[in-house]
Amino acid sequence: MLNWDDPLIQANPSAPANRPPPPSAERDPVRPGTGLVTNERLMATAGAAPSVAPDPFAGRSEPFGAASLRPVSPVPEAAGGATGLEQVTLGAGRVRVDDKRVINCRADLNQLVPFKYDWAWRKYLDACANHWMPQEINMHADIALWKDPAGLTADERIIIQRNLGFFSTADSLVANNLVLAVYRHITNPECRQYLLRQAFEEALHTHAYQYVVESLGLDEGEIFNMYREVPAVARKAEWALPYTQHLADPHFHTGTPENDQRLLRELVAFYVVFEGIFFYVGFVQILSMGRRNKMTGTAEQFQYILRDESMHMNFGIDVINQIKIENPHLWTASFQQELAGMIREAVELEAQYAQDTMPRGVLGLNASMFTEYLHFIANRRCAQIGLPEQYPGATNPFPWMSEVLDLKKEKNFFETRVTEYQTGGALNWD
Ligand SMILES: [Fe+2]
Ligand SMILES: [Fe+2]
Repeated sequence: MLNWDDPLIQANPSAPANRPPPPSAERDPVRPGTGLVTNERLMATAGAAPSVAPDPFAGRSEPFGAASLRPVSPVPEAAGGATGLEQVTLGAGRVRVDDKRVINCRADLNQLVPFKYDWAWRKYLDACANHWMPQEINMHADIALWKDPAGLTADERIIIQRNLGFFSTADSLVANNLVLAVYRHITNPECRQYLLRQAFEEALHTHAYQYVVESLGLDEGEIFNMYREVPAVARKAEWALPYTQHLADPHFHTGTPENDQRLLRELVAFYVVFEGIFFYVGFVQILSMGRRNKMTGTAEQFQYILRDESMHMNFGIDVINQIKIENPHLWTASFQQELAGMIREAVELEAQYAQDTMPRGVLGLNASMFTEYLHFIANRRCAQIGLPEQYPGATNPFPWMSEVLDLKKEKNFFETRVTEYQTGGALNWD
């Protein structure tokens, strides 16, 4: 068996593995084209959970929230620049681990090693181990069901079309934000390595929606214009777009407390809200359909997208928390309140999306269940980035929608290093 996870093990199988083997339950390959799997099994292959502590003041004498707006970590002076495209400085000193920072770093960005952020490299490897393509999934049953006038109710058809409408442009929006706004401000090569992988995965997701639209023979103009024509879809894109504006501005530079907070705010908007809240009503709706043996090919596409998205969000959370650790002066009480307000606002918008896409109960679901679910996941997102829970006591009405954080890996959450690895998504050519 090829081991994409660690070529050293493949090259020298007798060498002791430098990582603990994954539990056998997590080694089952989950491959597209083999049908729907339980979410628990799917998410067991979703790679490393967030591992950077959400409290930037842990271990510091300064009380939480009392820091002033002044940089605590000095920006290291090392040969290089903010983009990686600067003139090469011949004979410059070699990059040291201590020179590296997630933002505002001037150490040479073209040198991947020495690694500082094992969690970022780990997530890159996990993401590569989970590679998939939309064409691997058989769409024949979906095509037959969609073409059968009695195959689906009108409400079920609306759910499919609205979600294709939302996601088909949302993933392009995320990809554009990533490469045109976020990437150049993240001054760390191992994080950029993951961002490049994520950008390709966003392209795969847009490909998957296009593949479903084409397979079902839907009106592509109608689907791809929904974010400009259907209010419930448009509102979410409208909410997110202002949060690309600073980072995408070519004159914007990090390095001041105000601008570094802008960066953090926009990372929260995209990683925690857009990919972590705005995708989840759609995921539950489509996966519920698959659980009822309807549109199983489309649901299988969404399963692999959900796994990728969970990994994107977990990476974003680690990036956000690492920036806070290196710049605790940014994490003021008023800034935290502002971010909590953004998350509450997003929950209301997403609850409205559930109502608009599903005005009547369908598939055993109704809009109030989604509100409860959104409160539940918003609490988790808040805890993950070190904010107080906004909806105390919220419970999960969809326990089958387990996420990677629902699994036992959460025990590592407050550790600073990932100690548990899985290779469940690695390709097996045997
Ligand atoms: Fe995506
Ligand atoms: Fe994503």
